[in-house]
Amino acid sequence: MEKDNNRGQWGSNFGFLMAAVGSAVGLGNLWGFPYKMGVGGGFAFLLLYLILVVFVGYIMLNTELALGRKTGTGVVGAYRAISTKYTAIGWMGAIAPFLILGFYSMLGGYCMKYAVSNLGDLFNASWGVNSADGGEFFGTFISNQAESSIYTVVFIALTILIVLRGVSKGIEKFTKVAMPALFVMLVIVIIRSVTLPGAIEGLEFMFKPDFSVFQGTGWITVLASAGGQMFFTLSLAMGIMVAYGSYLPKTQDINKNAMIIPIADTVIAIMAGLAIMPAVASAGMEFGAGPGLLFVTLQTVFNGLGIAGPIFGFIFYALVFIAAITSAISLLEGIVSIPVDKKLKETGINQRTKYTWILGILVMIEGVLVSLDGLGTYFPPLFGKFIWLDGFDLVSEGILMPLGAFLTAIVFGWIRKDVLVDEISLSSEFKSKKFYLFCLKYLAPVMMLLVLVGQINSFFGLGWF
Ligand code: PFF
Repeated sequence: MEKDNNRGQWGSNFGFLMAAVGSAVGLGNLWGFPYKMGVGGGFAFLLLYLILVVFVGYIMLNTELALGRKTGTGVVGAYRAISTKYTAIGWMGAIAPFLILGFYSMLGGYCMKYAVSNLGDLFNASWGVNSADGGEFFGTFISNQAESSIYTVVFIALTILIVLRGVSKGIEKFTKVAMPALFVMLVIVIIRSVTLPGAIEGLEFMFKPDFSVFQGTGWITVLASAGGQMFFTLSLAMGIMVAYGSYLPKTQDINKNAMIIPIADTVIAIMAGLAIMPAVASAGMEFGAGPGLLFVTLQTVFNGLGIAGPIFGFIFYALVFIAAITSAISLLEGIVSIPVDKKLKETGINQRTKYTWILGILVMIEGVLVSLDGLGTYFPPLFGKFIWLDGFDLVSEGILMPLGAFLTAIVFGWIRKDVLVDEISLSSEFKSKKFYLFCLKYLAPVMMLLVLVGQINSFFGLGWF
């Protein structure tokens, strides 16, 4: 099916970049970033976030891409290839994306529903939003278990179809078109948003420095929030960059790619803020609506734009759908590559089709379960406390991600220092080698622990600081 040791390889560095940026750019950018930035003191959050991206994100991206390329295998096999002692870290990077996919697919399905409904409005169809109140429309949809499950299943089915086709013919081919399209659509929405009356307040909300959030132990809370965001948005500690790195030819410059990905991701996150916050301000709505921001607040904003509303609504939700599906593809690829590579090594046969279906269907079951919960409407809370989406998020984003990254930094910063540096230096001189090793050794583990503690504190509302 695939050429090159039968495993698959990116056709070009641009193709790889579109796939990696496609993985990074997702709901985390279009939804989490602007909202967290607003709550975290605007510029204060941005500053900490950027520091974390440079000192931890860039470092971990280099590490994961190099680990993948060096070992030429999915995440579990990659850690095992370094030493069987580290296999457990690989498993963390396998379980976390599986858990994330469950709720991520449901949210992707929500985006499809909203794109379809806005399209319906363009034709005055009965299946449109029909100026229903934003909150009511959302409530009716999520509590319709059959409808929300169907959208989740369709979203996962599309993801499966792309992953089935393999690395260059599926993922690369799709993301090479989808990512530039997303960019153009985002620019269109930004132009509309910032030219609405009263838009300036939205820009102020995002960018006006408010360092009072750092007071006392407040900085730890903002640091944890920025750290969690940095992990999630760069798709780190998920086995994904390991898998994507494993398809990278030895001639490509890992270090350069590890710089471009976070820059592109951050630019798009800020652009997402420019698209969303001014429109929210103009409609006189709440910035800090959290999860409701994307579906309740924004739909209300589109409802208020008159005849242009459904056009911008459709473009906006379609672009969020693209962002979500290119991320979901990477999550599925991350887990599919694990058994595919194992079997390939054992039998020499590429069983991508079989494992994509098996894991895809398991993800579907998980996604339907999360959808049936209707954001806490139907099922008893997980761990006695969380709606299902938050419970899955807690285990994956709150615990497995920072813990896995912490252990990775310890292994490659302290124990096996040279393996990855040699890999990164293969195609060109690794100029920032000293900086890389210093950060990996000292800064990354400390930051990771702070993020872990901060995430646990905020998820459980422990009030430690
Ligand atoms: N980076 C994606 C986002 O910002 O929405 C989400 C994501 C994709 C997280 C892939 C983790 C991952 F492995």
